[in-house]
Formats: sequence, structure tokens, C-alpha cells
Amino acid sequence: MSFKSLKIGKYTIQKPIVQGGMGLGISWDQLAGNVSKEGGLGVISAVGTGYYEDKAHAKKLVSDRPLSEANFYSPEGLDKIIKNARKICGNKPLAVNILYAMNDYGRVVSDACKSGADIIITGAGLPTNMPEFAEGFPDIALVPIVSSPKALKIICKRWQKRYDRLPDAVIVEGPKSGGHQGFTYEQCSMPENQLENIVGPVVEEAANWGNIPVIAAGGVWDKNDIEEMLSLGAAAVQMGTRFIGTHECDAHENFKNVLLNAKKEDIVLMGSPVGYPAQGVRTNLTELVEKREGPAIKCISNCVAPCNRGEEAKEVGFCIADRLSDAFMGNTKTGLFFSGTNGYKLNEIISVKELMDKLTEGE
Ligand SMILES: Cc1cc2nc3c(=O)[nH]c(=O)nc-3n(C[C@H](O)[C@H](O)[C@H](O)COP(=O)(O)O)c2cc1C
Repeated sequence: MSFKSLKIGKYTIQKPIVQGGMGLGISWDQLAGNVSKEGGLGVISAVGTGYYEDKAHAKKLVSDRPLSEANFYSPEGLDKIIKNARKICGNKPLAVNILYAMNDYGRVVSDACKSGADIIITGAGLPTNMPEFAEGFPDIALVPIVSSPKALKIICKRWQKRYDRLPDAVIVEGPKSGGHQGFTYEQCSMPENQLENIVGPVVEEAANWGNIPVIAAGGVWDKNDIEEMLSLGAAAVQMGTRFIGTHECDAHENFKNVLLNAKKEDIVLMGSPVGYPAQGVRTNLTELVEKREGPAIKCISNCVAPCNRGEEAKEVGFCIADRLSDAFMGNTKTGLFFSGTNGYKLNEIISVKELMDKLTEGE
């Protein structure tokens, strides 16, 4: 089966493969730029751009960490990442992933628009007011991430009524995905919430609103998985974890090694200050957190609204901004390493081009 291209708004993506946005610093210019160059959709993560280029773009640091949301989500950092990705992929479509739970969400969407993103993708919450922040940029396509047809319906109703527009595509994410889930712990293991069972209903809901392309995410690993999702009505897939196994992935070498060494049982769901369970690798940090012996929680970067200035971090036992940035810097003692449930399958580091060839042509 040869794959059809994917259309999102005015953009045509040659291969129906979206590389999921991965924070902190896992999908920046190198990964996203190369995925777009190879004909997929590269997605830059807007998380923690104050850490880019050894924190050169954070104007104020405290204890060597970007102070507050203004520096953690550095506009200059994001701008540089987008410009550097463009040097790799030229005018091919390029997206930015911006979590709805971020403090300063609206400002960051507007930063991404000004810096030349073509497509904005938002998950971790129901982005009912997303179009507001992209006003004045009519060419920018908007793509929410949902985990149920109901969530898509709410977004479409609200966007149509308030902004007279609909999502340009929608990502449906199942509970095998890396990072934050759109489900409770219990819901993650329920058969009815597995990706293969939610794609169809989301495709049906999308059809009620016109031709919104549906992109399936969470546990997609190889060409067979892609074909399965397309046969269920998806127009494309989004993949995160497998792209960590590329030379171009912006993650620290130690991050890639954590995944290369992970066994199936090491990939677990854990609590997170974002308020949703998160999927990642059991490491020294997760053990410390279980014993309530994790690193001190200082809330220097004030990263996400649901954490309520460190209140939730104290509940779950870790600061997500500090722990994700430690993983980005390669600290295996205190870093938090997100992965989808398939992370243990990673056994080699190859180039983005080789991976894209395998995904489209098979092994
Ligand atoms: C290390 C890591 C970080 C992630 N960070 C984000 C993020 O910042 N925003 C987001 O919407 N999704 C995030 N995700 C989810 C991915 O974009 C993608 O949808 C998901 O991982 C797909 O499942 P897969 O890993 O099984 O392919 C992350 C995933 C991983 C593995």
C-alpha cells in the first residue's frame, strides 16, 4: 500500500506521518526540521525553550533555571528553534506543539505564529479558545489533540460559534502514548479507550463537521501499525517514541540510552503536576519520588497552570519543569524520561531518513 499525502489547512504533507511534539527539548530544530525535510510533519515542542542553546535565551535565571514562565517559555528561544529548523526543511510545513496547560499559553501561541510556524498543535486540555491567539494569521492551521469524540464535538461547537472556524485536523491520542494522557489511570487500561477503538468514533464525529482529517497517535510503531490506523479511517498517524531513536533527535544521548536499555515492565504510568497521568520510564527519580525523597520542589519556572505554583508538584512529589529539563541535560539520577509503552522496542539509533523509509516502505 502506498501512502497518500496529508492535507492540513493549506498545507500538503507528502507522507502521512506526523512526528509528535516532545518536551522538554526532545523535538526541537534538528528532529522537527529533518522530519519535515523527509516529507513528514516535523513538530517543535514549545516547552522549556529557555533551555535552548544552554539557556542563552533565558533573560533571568535562578539557581541556573529559567525564572518564571516568561523565561521558561522564551520567545527568543522558540524563534531561534523555528529559524534553525527552517534552515533544514526550507518552506516545507512545520508545526509547533503548545500544551494548553502551560502558563502563558496564549502568548506562546502568538509567539509561534509570529516566528513562522505553519501549524499549531495543542493537547493537555480542551483548547476551546485556541483560535483567539492565532488571530491575524489566517494561514496558520490549528490542530487540537483529543481522546474522545465528545471532546472533538465540544471543540467544534465552540470554535464554530465563537470564531466561525473548525480545526484543520484533529489528533486522537490513545493511552499507549508517551507523556501525558487524556485519561485517568483506570481509563488508560479500559478496552474502549484503546486507540483502535477510539479512532473510528472520532472519525465519525469529524465527518459530522465536514472533512476534518483525523491523525491517530499512541503506540504506532511500524508500517503495519500505520496501515491499520489508515484502514480505520485515519488520514495519518502521529508518532513520538520511535523518533527518539534517531541521530537527529534533540534528546541527550543519555535520554536515548535510557530508552535503549528499558524493558517492557520499566514503562509505567505515574502521577504528574499537570493533573493527568504521564507515561515514562521507571528510573532512579521515580524510585526516589515513590519514597518521597525526590529533589526539592522550588517552582522556579512556574510552568503549568494546573500545578498551582508548585502545590500539585508537592502532592505528586516532583517539579515537572526541573525534572524534564534534567532529562534533557542528560541527568539520569534526577531526570524524568517520558516514553510510550513501546519504548522498550527501541534497539537502534538510525537517521530520520532511514526511519521514514522503513515506515513508508517497510523493513
Ligand atoms: C518524551 C516525550 C515527550 C512528549 N511531550 C509531549 C508534549 O510536550 N506535548 C504533547 O502534546 N505530547 C507530548 N508527547 C506525546 C507525543 O507527541 C506523541 O503524541 C506520543 O508519544 C505518541 O505515542 P508514541 O510515543 O507511542 O508514538 C510526548 C511523548 C514523549 C515520548
